[in-house]
Amino acid sequence: MKKLAIMGAMEEEIEPLLAHFDNVKVTDFAKNKYYEVTYNGLEIVIAYSKIGKVFASLTASTLIEKFGCDTLLFSGVAGAINPKLKIGDLIIADKLCQHDLDITAFGHPHGFVPGGDVFIETTEKLRDIAKEVAVENSLSVLEGTIATGDQFVHSVERKEFIESTFKADALEMEGASVAVICDSLSVPFFILRAISDTADGGADIDFDEFLKSSAKESADYLIKIVDKLNK
Ligand code: ADE
Repeated sequence: MKKLAIMGAMEEEIEPLLAHFDNVKVTDFAKNKYYEVTYNGLEIVIAYSKIGKVFASLTASTLIEKFGCDTLLFSGVAGAINPKLKIGDLIIADKLCQHDLDITAFGHPHGFVPGGDVFIETTEKLRDIAKEVAVENSLSVLEGTIATGDQFVHSVERKEFIESTFKADALEMEGASVAVICDSLSVPFFILRAISDTADGGADIDFDEFLKSSAKESADYLIKIVDKLNK
């Protein structure tokens, strides 16, 4: 690893990361800000994309193609589907899918378009390192499927559709698009989330209440993973 990308979707998701680093150089590009730091000899570029798959794709592509990052870590919050996941709990994606990608009219499964796959796996080596860090720090982390879509899910019906169609454990709005970019460009990547809500009625209220604290849970764990990667 020569240059590491760290991404979030919202400012709140990268704030605790930026607070951890000194001498941040800010570059404006494509209506966004990219924060470059050197941390214990490792070059890191940090950015938040703005919400949703399109912005996340743009930012992931920029981090890789313009800034030359060769590994990408994502940190942020998610809505829980798996009842084992409570607010503040951590999930690392072993695979991701797009729950709102739908050409079922043509006989294809949900989440599939020709030339793509329903699920994209994250890099096993990065997951293994993350799991070692979890054990060393007595953190409880679930490894599972994350479903992504351009919707803030706040209904039992939609949540159940995503659960039954994709067997997903959590959902959010960027991970699978970052996975498509990294997989296409052969860049190792890792998607980490902490739960902010349970994606049903009241999810909006919980999200507002727990965004900051859950984003910090995710960021604190991510920094420990970066420390381990850089050993
Ligand atoms: N990220 C966090 N909570 C979410 C939800 N309920 N729907 C979509 N993305 C989310």
